[in-house]
Amino acid sequence: MSSNTPAKAPTQFDICTLFPDFFTGPLNSSILHRAQHHGHVNYALHDMRDHTDDKHRRVDDRPFGGGPGMVLKAQPVFACLESMALSPEVPVILTSPRAPLFTQQDAIALSQLPRVVFLCGHYEGMDERIRERLCSHVYSIGSYVLTGGEPASLVMLDAIVRLIPGVVGRQASVEQDSFMDGLLDCPHYTRPAMFRDMEVPAVLQGGNHADIERWRHVQKMKETQRWRPDVWAEYTPSAQEQKWLEESQ
Ligand code: ADE
Repeated sequence: MSSNTPAKAPTQFDICTLFPDFFTGPLNSSILHRAQHHGHVNYALHDMRDHTDDKHRRVDDRPFGGGPGMVLKAQPVFACLESMALSPEVPVILTSPRAPLFTQQDAIALSQLPRVVFLCGHYEGMDERIRERLCSHVYSIGSYVLTGGEPASLVMLDAIVRLIPGVVGRQASVEQDSFMDGLLDCPHYTRPAMFRDMEVPAVLQGGNHADIERWRHVQKMKETQRWRPDVWAEYTPSAQEQKWLEESQ
């Protein structure tokens, strides 16, 4: 069996949105496209506007209590989700800045499920009863506010799809990624060994695999300390790792 042949039924991803066109480019490009083409995944876009009972096709209304902006109504979202007749164990993920941050561990857990539903948050807010009754998970992708939940859903979808076995050619390259073992990835180089005045570290040019593995591991720890002190604070280096770090100063 080639590495591209799926060993199981495609993972089903449903995206509930008011802007389905947002997804057509990304879902038809690169690895997300190839994953569907090779039968690893299936994407379905659901336009929540198709489910409104408003004769003018409106999906939002003024907020109770007053204030600026419009609020996405519960009705079209409930009708859209109900039309999918989901079994209760299927996760429904809402995007919101008012939520815990989505992590690699969340992506790993979701990549092992047969079906995942994304519900794209509305840029001005949505009726809280949607979150209360319909959503099993709520995630933010960062401490900033986007124009809507579509980019956030796409980011999470991308992080999940690439973890499904067979989607990325070499599983080892996924396992070596940043965050997979609680550390950022190490720097990588390719030929030529000398480019302008910059030389590839000598250890990588030598053939000593143990030295290379040690160098990479020390770099991973240093990159994490430097760029993500918050991630480093959660990591407990072993005595061996501490020794390597000290020796590399
Ligand atoms: N919607 C708006 N901002 C967001 C964010 N940071 N993460 C997820 N959904 C969002």
